[in-house]
Amino acid sequence: MLAIEGLRHDIGGRTVLRVERWEVSASEPALVLGPSGSGKSTLLNVIAGLIEPTTGEVRLQGRALTAMRPAERDRFRGQRIGLVPQRLHLIEVISVRDNLRLARRLAGLPADDHRIDAVLASLGISSLADARPANLSVGEAQRVAVGRAVLNQPAIVLADEPTSALDDLNCERVITLLLDQARSCGAALVVATHDQRIAGRFDRQLRL
Ligand SMILES: Nc1ncnc2c1ncn2[C@@H]1O[C@H](COP(=O)(O)OP(=O)(O)OP(=O)(O)O)[C@@H](O)[C@H]1O
Ligand SMILES: [Mg+2]
Repeated sequence: MLAIEGLRHDIGGRTVLRVERWEVSASEPALVLGPSGSGKSTLLNVIAGLIEPTTGEVRLQGRALTAMRPAERDRFRGQRIGLVPQRLHLIEVISVRDNLRLARRLAGLPADDHRIDAVLASLGISSLADARPANLSVGEAQRVAVGRAVLNQPAIVLADEPTSALDDLNCERVITLLLDQARSCGAALVVATHDQRIAGRFDRQLRL
């Protein structure tokens, strides 16, 4: 599903990320662990094709994002990659439902309000459909971001520090949701974190 080889990324002459070899399959959710500044967000952004690495290869479903033209890469990302970014980037002034509608539109997919309703229901947040993200609690907003990531039934879900701002109960809930949602759409899952509370939930780990 995901294959990384000889990856290195330099910023301003300094190497901030190095991964010799790493593979992730849909059946084995994976955790990227490391202290602040160790390159976790950089790695997820490289996997998502948002950053072009200095050297090395990243393949998703056998395809190298760096070899694609920008428009094709954006479409591929929108349809195959579900991102839960470290800063959630929900649009605060439109409803939760409209945030999800936008995620389909931006991926070039037809509107599908049934799918949106089903995702909100599976996350236990149907009642928040008409709320604005600005008015949600941190845990609620995190669940909306998970919903947006799985909405388009991606091949891989990338979640960057999805639990660091959450208390133990919500931490547990969000990780369970990510694992369940990824499994139910057959997607691979990569979670980056420095949150030791969740390490035990993942057999496959990469330490940066
Ligand atoms: N655009 C940038 N310009 C300069 N340095 C950067 C940039 N992006 C990342 N870095 C540096 O690269 C290193 C890795 O950053 P990254 O955000 O990937 O770490 P992280 O493991 O996600 O940290 P955190 O746990 O705090 O989120 C850091 O030293 C950071 O300062
Ligand atoms: Mg980070």
